[in-house]
Amino acid sequence: MDLRLGVGGPPSSPEKAAVDEVLGQPDSSWNGGERTAAGGHLARGGHRARAQRHLLLPALQAVQQRVGWVTPGALDYVCMRLTVPPAEAYGVAAFYSLLRTEPAATTVIHVCDDLACRCQGAEQLCSEMERRFGPPSETAGLEGVSWVRSPCLGRCEQGSAALVQRAGDTPGMSSIAPATLAKIEHALSGGNGSTPMLDPSSPVRSDPSSRRLLRRVDVVDPGSISSYRAHGGYQMLRRALQMGPQGVIREIKEANLLGRGGAAFPTGTKWEAIANNPVRPHYFVCNADESEPGTFKDRVLMERDPFGVIEALTIAGYATGAERGYIYIRGEYPEATARLTEGIEQARIQGLLGHSIMGGDFEFDIELRRGAGAYIAGEETALFNSIEGLRPEPRNKPPFPTQAGLFAKPTGVNNVETLANVLEILTIGGAEYAKLGTPSSTGTRLFCLSGCVERPGLYEVEFGATLRELLAMAGGIRGGRPLQAVLLGGAAGSFVGPSALDTPLTFEGVRAIGATLGSGVVLALDDTIEVTDLLRRIAQFFRDESCGQCVPCRVGTVRQEELLARMLAGRPLGSAQRELEVLGELGQVMRDASICGLGQTASAAVESAVAQGLIGSGAAAPEVRS
Ligand SMILES: Cc1cc2nc3c(=O)[nH]c(=O)nc-3n(C[C@H](O)[C@H](O)[C@H](O)COP(=O)(O)O)c2cc1C
Ligand code: SF4
Ligand code: FES
Repeated sequence: MDLRLGVGGPPSSPEKAAVDEVLGQPDSSWNGGERTAAGGHLARGGHRARAQRHLLLPALQAVQQRVGWVTPGALDYVCMRLTVPPAEAYGVAAFYSLLRTEPAATTVIHVCDDLACRCQGAEQLCSEMERRFGPPSETAGLEGVSWVRSPCLGRCEQGSAALVQRAGDTPGMSSIAPATLAKIEHALSGGNGSTPMLDPSSPVRSDPSSRRLLRRVDVVDPGSISSYRAHGGYQMLRRALQMGPQGVIREIKEANLLGRGGAAFPTGTKWEAIANNPVRPHYFVCNADESEPGTFKDRVLMERDPFGVIEALTIAGYATGAERGYIYIRGEYPEATARLTEGIEQARIQGLLGHSIMGGDFEFDIELRRGAGAYIAGEETALFNSIEGLRPEPRNKPPFPTQAGLFAKPTGVNNVETLANVLEILTIGGAEYAKLGTPSSTGTRLFCLSGCVERPGLYEVEFGATLRELLAMAGGIRGGRPLQAVLLGGAAGSFVGPSALDTPLTFEGVRAIGATLGSGVVLALDDTIEVTDLLRRIAQFFRDESCGQCVPCRVGTVRQEELLARMLAGRPLGSAQRELEVLGELGQVMRDASICGLGQTASAAVESAVAQGLIGSGAAAPEVRS
């Protein structure tokens, strides 16, 4: 693509309409509007156009949805409207997997071939797709349809998953899970591709009496704010407004709530730092990017308790003095996006967002931002860049988000599950909450069970339950087979063996065995699963998702994948022992010298597998194709 303004030619009418719908009509010849006499002499509005840079990703998404790829003409037009250099806008468009910068099929089917689905035969579905639609590719294949392999689609409890992305006059995106070739063909044959085909049974499997964060799931109608309020919804916001911001923060600190997004940072400390920062305005972001392979807890909360997420974010905004909240949701979650969009609208109508909330002087509104397929965008500073219309590359820290985050202002970021705890803390009080779990891991935790258990699904348990107890809740290993290993915490987590079964699943408990809870993934593997195949998929995932900004991660993830490929093919360079040593050195360099958590954890699972003896000289494993 030639990246100079004007080379792409004018946008087509549908492209222009798609962009104008996001940015509004152009008002001068400088940004694509009618030429006027004044416009010939004066350039007005440059500052205003640049202030809209944060709309770059939504504008590109609109083009993608309308014509199936970001054409040179459309890119040019977006750049002119926002006064963004074409190379920069192209750099943004090319970053995301749900945007295409080359001509592509109008319908693209994303088929998950990631960890949990691999354990349930994802390769077989991929083979069937290949026989039916040809090799995976984004360019138009048979009947204008193409298919690609996808990392985890966040429906791991279903055993297989696909996502249909359709561009055109009636664009749509919908999930299929469990996915079969027949269901995919059925989805293609009907309508605009926006009807999800999902198993109607609840993904929540834990005993109803033990549910706190999930107490409204499958009880409250997720499409009705009246139903939510009839079940006690918005009483905690009322309580928060009575307590005042300091009172709310006191409760959160007393509860000793630690973040559930992976880093386990104390939430009350974070909130206090933002509230005390005199720089204005403040922002609060709910991180709903959930892209860690094996994780689906946030999706369940958003799809089945959207008002709980909205109320909790409103309380967070109130406590930290923020006027504006963002929910950054992963692009592959169309059903949760629809629920939240509708929920935010209903909350506005009822005066629970906007000016004078609940009749007082608190003002707060929420904007929903959709990601476009990039795991790294879940890292909080990369997320800010994504919202601001830049490439989602992590920033150096410090400054920390509480000092200079979104738009360089003090910003709070919390994971969806962390925010769900806020409602529970205000319901029972921080002191009572702190009695749940252990002193260092208070409250309950959502665990995403998948793989070879009898009843995969979402389980809420009080911190302290052991891995053995959790697996027993899920009915144990399917068919009574022996447990080979468990992947704790997702691709960025680690494998533990059967000897870890009595480990309490607390932050401190898993730390003691050198593991992490991460995003709550518990992927159980029986003795039939080829762990080396999963390792290769993990290595491919990190190589794909590295933003490439720093050398240890950009090069290290490639070398790690190559090394594993050699090992698995039984063709080690030198000896297998030497390859394992190099693997350890690569891990060390990535851990020590990478800017962000992606590079720092990219070798964790592989190294833990080596430590557990799950990989050695290595038998050949099935090819994982890009
Ligand atoms: C590569 C990478 C991806 C991440 N993805 C997510 C994510 O999808 N959701 C999330 O809540 N946190 C994610 N995080 C962690 C965030 O940077 C941040 O710590 C978190 O959102 C803070 O919320 P918490 O304090 O409630 O955990 C990710 C971190 C890294 C390094
Ligand atoms: S560690 Fe990897 S993902 Fe993180 S900034 Fe560096 S290159 Fe990007
Ligand atoms: S949906 Fe396939 S691994 Fe998560």
